[in-house]
Amino acid sequence: MKTTLTLALGLAMTTAVWAAADPHADPHAGHHADNPPGAAPAAREPVRFPPALKAETLANMRDHLLAIQEITAHLADKQFDAAADVAETRLGISSLQRHGAHEVAKYMPAGMRQTGHAMHQAASRFAVAAQEAGATGDVGPALRALSQMQGSCVACHAGYELK
Ligand code: HEC
Repeated sequence: MKTTLTLALGLAMTTAVWAAADPHADPHAGHHADNPPGAAPAAREPVRFPPALKAETLANMRDHLLAIQEITAHLADKQFDAAADVAETRLGISSLQRHGAHEVAKYMPAGMRQTGHAMHQAASRFAVAAQEAGATGDVGPALRALSQMQGSCVACHAGYELK
């Protein structure tokens, strides 16, 4: 219970930090339940990518989600090095080449680019925290780092949509 609460708080705080740092992010976008009935949905900034790049980006996104699923399973199995490896190679700084980040970055508004960069950095920080969990046996800091990384997924989705 305590872990769940801490995670929820961590995520909320991370999101709040990103919302504050990003002028385009709508701080209420993740809380539709708070909106009165009939209120207009929060607007996200539309971003135009060439069609092939959009398809490739969405495929990458689905792999991001798959990577998080794999990481969660590795953590449950106490396979900390495997969790770190998935994070670093599929989401972290080392994944930038694989994602053709250089090519997509030029189509992104500055705030979106920063959020993407923050995600890669947070994933690499998680990878280090996961390796440390292997040494200390305490998975808390790794889960917190994972939650912070997921905070950038949430922040970017709240702020932008692909056209
Ligand atoms: C820099 C911005 C950004 C970050 C960071 C980001 N995404 Fe996305 N993602 C998008 C955008 C934009 C879309 C398209 C949403 C739309 O147009 O409605 C998207 C779509 C998706 C989709 C739907 C794919 C499809 O087939 O339609 C998934 C799943 C997804 N993201 C997962 C993730 C996960 C998991 C993370 C974090 C590990 C993440 N994303 C981080 C911008 C981002």
